[in-house]
Amino acid sequence: MQVQLAGVREYADLFELPWGRPLLEWQDPHLVRMVRGPSQHVVRFVELGGHVLAVKETRDDRARHEYQMLRTIAETELPAVEAVCVVTGRADADGAPIGGAVVTRYLDFSLPYTYLLAREHGLEHQRRLIDAAAVLLVRLHLDGFIWGDCSLPNMLFRRDAGALAAYLVDAETTEHHNPLSGRLRTNDVEIALENIAGGVADLVAAGRLPAGTDAVEFAERLDRRYSELWEELTEEEEYATDELWRLDERVGRLNRLGFDAGELVVSSVDGNRRIRIRPSIVEEGHHARKLARLTGIEVQENQARRLLNDLNAFRAAEERRLDRTLSEGVAAHRWLSERFEPFVEAIPPELRGRLEPAEAYHQYLDHRWFRSEQAGADVPQAEAVASFFDDVLRGRPDERVVLPTGEVEAVRPTSPDVANA
Ligand SMILES: Nc1ncnc2c1ncn2[C@@H]1O[C@H](COP(=O)(O)OP(=O)(O)OP(=O)(O)O)[C@@H](O)[C@H]1O
Ligand SMILES: [Mg+2]
Repeated sequence: MQVQLAGVREYADLFELPWGRPLLEWQDPHLVRMVRGPSQHVVRFVELGGHVLAVKETRDDRARHEYQMLRTIAETELPAVEAVCVVTGRADADGAPIGGAVVTRYLDFSLPYTYLLAREHGLEHQRRLIDAAAVLLVRLHLDGFIWGDCSLPNMLFRRDAGALAAYLVDAETTEHHNPLSGRLRTNDVEIALENIAGGVADLVAAGRLPAGTDAVEFAERLDRRYSELWEELTEEEEYATDELWRLDERVGRLNRLGFDAGELVVSSVDGNRRIRIRPSIVEEGHHARKLARLTGIEVQENQARRLLNDLNAFRAAEERRLDRTLSEGVAAHRWLSERFEPFVEAIPPELRGRLEPAEAYHQYLDHRWFRSEQAGADVPQAEAVASFFDDVLRGRPDERVVLPTGEVEAVRPTSPDVANA
């Protein structure tokens, strides 16, 4: 039997890993311990060429499927971990088969829900997790994917300007359908609700969430958020032909939710007196795309919204100061070189792993506002930046790569059905 590593383009060192031994038994110097969510399969992390990779051991066929799904998901630009390679045909020294493996790139600045719930208490924080989960599930469904096993441990979260953005981490049960039937979609939502309510109840039972936490309320919120969003993004509406402004209103609502209407199907009814409108292609990332077009900065949706607001405020202030109008392009260029880039470059090297640059900038804007309010006047940029680094960023944990502190998720033994292909 020959080990096959498919898909590797970089990380030649992957070939050096001890594929002839079960992952649980590895003692390779490349292994690193990371904070991670619970899992049925053995998942371990290795550091190769300055990058951290996650290795998950499962059956050959499942590993191939998961790898393929992650590649397909990546083509649609949905938020998910990035597949590096799939390893199949493994066998030990006696020729006995060992399960295959999927290798993914560690998602920088990603946080498992257990990390977030342990550090950030209160209903508001819990709701952010659920809201992010609802957006991810809607996005997958819009692109024809069903998850099959949507749950909090199967997602990773990144901070997104006061909100969270969820990423898919476990694609083992994911399927692509074209078209995706309403029945499959509803079924997928039901699985998510059950998993999430069950998962929260388990955390309460384990004392990791306060005793009064209502697991059903988590599921209900997900259900509500999911349905509201799905409806707004896909529902058909009918207007009289002299009410076309309502079309702009619909597009505006989609934009505020962070989506672009790529295409609207407009059909006339009632002898051309009324029109029917249905968004046929909606894409998440309205503000993110706009910011990328203006500045080249690629960030998450809410971060982009915040950065665009700052850019607009900068433009308005400059127009007042110069007493003339500035084009959006010129304002964006100046904002980038006078505001955003100097801030990012000034982050002291030892603090660069604390927050992603756009997230740090978002928190800096909050800090500057707070300091100015306290002072009753605008605090100069240099002073606000310096106090943000010293008083805020320095006190935060490193979140680029989250290493375990005292409490660690143990590497669990593989369940019987995954050890052998
Ligand atoms: N690429 C990655 N980046 C960061 N963390 C990761 C990555 N891959 C896996 N993890 C961590 O490992 C955990 C387990 O991964 P995963 O859900 O794929 O395993 P699993 O055994 O299939 O889970 P299940 O019990 O749902 O079958 C995740 O919750 C996540 O915390
Ligand atoms: Mg999982």
